[in-house]
Amino acid sequence: MVSIQPSLSLEHAEVRVRRGPRSGLHFVIAIHDWGDGTALGGCRMLPCEDPGAALLDALALSRAMTYKCASVAVPHGGGKCVIAVPPGKPLAGEARDAILADVGDAVEELGGRFRTGTDAGTTVDDFLKMSERTKYLVGLPASAGGSGDSSELTADGGVAALEATAEHVYGSSELRDRRVNLLGMGKVGAKIADNLAGRGAHLTVADIDPGKRDLAERLGADWSSPDELLELEGDFLAPCALGGVLDEATATKLRCAAVVGAANNQLANPSIGELLQKRGIVWAPDFIANAGGLISVASEVDGYSEAEARERTAGIGMAIEEVLTLAEREGITPLSAAERRVEAVLATGRSQAPPAR
Ligand SMILES: NC(=O)c1ccc[n+]([C@@H]2O[C@H](COP(=O)([O-])OP(=O)(O)OC[C@H]3O[C@@H](n4cnc5c(N)ncnc54)[C@H](O)[C@@H]3O)[C@@H](O)[C@H]2O)c1
Repeated sequence: MVSIQPSLSLEHAEVRVRRGPRSGLHFVIAIHDWGDGTALGGCRMLPCEDPGAALLDALALSRAMTYKCASVAVPHGGGKCVIAVPPGKPLAGEARDAILADVGDAVEELGGRFRTGTDAGTTVDDFLKMSERTKYLVGLPASAGGSGDSSELTADGGVAALEATAEHVYGSSELRDRRVNLLGMGKVGAKIADNLAGRGAHLTVADIDPGKRDLAERLGADWSSPDELLELEGDFLAPCALGGVLDEATATKLRCAAVVGAANNQLANPSIGELLQKRGIVWAPDFIANAGGLISVASEVDGYSEAEARERTAGIGMAIEEVLTLAEREGITPLSAAERRVEAVLATGRSQAPPAR
């Protein structure tokens, strides 16, 4: 039984909710917009008791994917797959294989109109397993015909966004000696942390998984609890875990100059963007800062080279700078500025019509 918030605004093209016949687990494939006929978006495992949480997550994330595509000139629409997994221990063995087969069949049924790859809680190995059921996957290793782990370019784009924000806030893109507090040492967060450590930034990191502490030590980073990290003084907070991390309570306590990270949907709601602005904290819109992975996987659909994907990812810095400058000039939030930029792109004729079957 799914309970939907009455205030939910449903602007999506198609939403499928299914209980997997093998796994017994619920999952959602939400297509916000078909774009040019193909919707792109990751597939995540969300630990939650109520499958309704997976539905809400998929609706919000697929919308963000449409905005991400339009922000970096990718002609596709936004989709997302969210699997509701029992909280606690990660799914393993036969139970994990069962849900991967269930989702693989559902992706195959869409006939290539939705293509998906890794996201929070899923790995390249999961997608190699899923590739036994569907050919419509992205981000597989080159040996399996894919463009490789999308988290690499997601991290590169995140660093480009940090540099652009540093330039905006401090007049220099140099990250050496900047104090960065990074939340979530997963596939993307660990790569951003590694990059920043190499540049001589002062890092403090946190993760709910204490197993990530060894990596922090290897990088010379300080370790903190997730709650305390949000209140640490610093130049940047880099949210790289799950969404909704900035709500009224946390945004009020931040003691950093700017927030720039890879996590999707960092703001619990748009009013948090206004709260940050009032507090003089610059927020780099997440759907631009984390678009490197999208650029990476779209290369498989659109046929551009790895070198071009890297070049386009570096352009994320320029997009962030453009949005922060527009926000400052117009006295609006970076979120409003980024949405204004997207809406201008969407108004130039991207189709909402369902593609041919
Ligand atoms: N992988 C990509 O290419 C990609 C692309 C765009 C956006 N993103 C977004 O970036 C974020 C991270 O993605 P990922 O692929 O690195 O996921 P991941 O599952 O590899 O890593 C997430 C990490 O966050 C930690 N975490 C979860 N909840 C936490 C909490 N409450 N506090 C602290 N740590 C917590 C987990 O233990 C894990 O180490 C997600 O929001 C994802 O949607 C990822």
